[in-house]
Amino acid sequence: MNDALPRTGFFRSRILTTLVLWITFPLFLLQPSQGYGASRAPVWGPRGLVATVSPAASEVGASILRQGGNAADAAVAVGFALAVTWPAAGNLGGGGFALVRSQDGKSNFIDYRETAPAAADKNFYLDAKGEIIPGASTRGFRAIATPGTVAGMALLHKKYGKLPWKKVIEPARRLAVEGFIVDQSFVSMLESHKERLEKFPVSRRIFLKNGKDLKVGDRFVQTDLGWSLTQIQKSGESAFYSGTIAKRMVAAIKKGGGVITLDDLKNYKAVERAPLEGRYKNYQILTAPPPSSGGALLLAMLGMLEKDDVQALGFGSAAYNHLLVETMKRAFADRSEWFGDPDFVQNPLKKFLAPDYLAKRRANINMSKATPSQEIKPGDFSDKESQDTTHYTIVDAQGMIISNTYTLNGSFGSGVTAEGTGILMNNEMDDFSSKPGSPNMYGLLQSDRNAIAPKKRPLSSMTPTIVLEGGKPILALGSPGGPTIINSVFQVTLNTLALGMDIQTAIDAPKLHHQWMPDRILSEPWGVNPDTKKIMQSMGHNFGDRSFHFGDVQAVLYDKERKQWSGGSDSRHGGSVAVE
Ligand code: GLY
Repeated sequence: MNDALPRTGFFRSRILTTLVLWITFPLFLLQPSQGYGASRAPVWGPRGLVATVSPAASEVGASILRQGGNAADAAVAVGFALAVTWPAAGNLGGGGFALVRSQDGKSNFIDYRETAPAAADKNFYLDAKGEIIPGASTRGFRAIATPGTVAGMALLHKKYGKLPWKKVIEPARRLAVEGFIVDQSFVSMLESHKERLEKFPVSRRIFLKNGKDLKVGDRFVQTDLGWSLTQIQKSGESAFYSGTIAKRMVAAIKKGGGVITLDDLKNYKAVERAPLEGRYKNYQILTAPPPSSGGALLLAMLGMLEKDDVQALGFGSAAYNHLLVETMKRAFADRSEWFGDPDFVQNPLKKFLAPDYLAKRRANINMSKATPSQEIKPGDFSDKESQDTTHYTIVDAQGMIISNTYTLNGSFGSGVTAEGTGILMNNEMDDFSSKPGSPNMYGLLQSDRNAIAPKKRPLSSMTPTIVLEGGKPILALGSPGGPTIINSVFQVTLNTLALGMDIQTAIDAPKLHHQWMPDRILSEPWGVNPDTKKIMQSMGHNFGDRSFHFGDVQAVLYDKERKQWSGGSDSRHGGSVAVE
């Protein structure tokens, strides 16, 4: 015992603590039985909520709502703000998908995925011997696809926004020009991708300060990006696709050996598509159609488990994990063969999502033994019919919801910042199949349907999703993480809808990932206990050597008891939910 301890005070405080515990103990008994198995409680909002990876960007969204903007205005403001405060994935030089559900009950899907430049074809990344040129589709100027983000944000604003364009761009412009104080998450993000940025002088100057690394508490000003945002604020998307920014970008890309031309930029169009719709038990699911594979796989996996009582298996048990992993393997096997840009190839969605096909897939799962991936073949529908990315979810007081996932593909994309613009460029070309049968950056095998062709959109895994019950939205979510996106969204959906977890617990609960090939399970640190792992190994499952955290889910869930929305945000990258 430490004799210097103020003993009287110490005992007094012990007595007080005991009294407080006795008095409040019955209150604990009156709380809902579950409590939070989470890093923090969900955030409730009687009006709007904004969940993003970056607290500064979440606050931008909430402040737009407070100024009378709707969820679309906030989504546009956040989209531009994340390009400043979360440059690993927030972007102007990338692309993505926005799933919209407006207060009138209508839904829409804005596809602003990047497209292949006119000069790229299916052999673009192959050498004279037909072999893949290592790194060509992932780093540097030839990895860049024609960006879609600015067109996507402009379309979202034109169709749904209430506030003037200038007003929604202003917070991002100010964050770039005046700078913001960097926190630990920001510094860690830069540290872990230093090698990528170092190779490109403009990126090195801006993000690595030519070797004088940013420290926690430093103010980070991005003058060139501030210039670009000012042009976009003044002239709209035309500044980016044909005006001053376009000219600077094309000059920088040409100098670096890339192939994107002014025509590629001028020809780029964001498009509207019907969201993919499906059901799980009593819920209606709205999610991403092709060129994403994410929505289709989500619906297929939920469909395979339609009749299972997953709660009875027990979250995290060997049987529960086994069932989920076997489901993932089967869905990803089909992904390897059947999906691509719907403007170029047919996606056999009807057959892939047919209840009898999914029931057959489910019936083929042996509950006591893992099926080796080699033995799982993609289904036969032949009679013709990325860290990365970031997601944000916004709900406003009128009930409009925007579930938006956008990306540069790899963290900091191609690593290239176009000189004079401060704009980091994507490496989305790697989401194409450079050579059918050869894995891409994420180890995904893909078919000829996803081969490169001019103006084609690469197949994506992004899965912005909105779930309705009785016609009313109750859950909206999405995640980054390449193919792990699909399984993160799948598991958080099950955690909430089938297991009844609150939104923060559902996000924090450890996740598993299997993508058919390679035949191994990825798990999160401390995510599978050793006994469970042993049981699963004895069933024939292989685990990857390393565990690491994946996904970064940002979500809102309607709280029926409180009659208001609750927001959750993966705290491991420092994300936050801001309240209107
Ligand atoms: N770039 C990651 C994806 O779209 O799947």
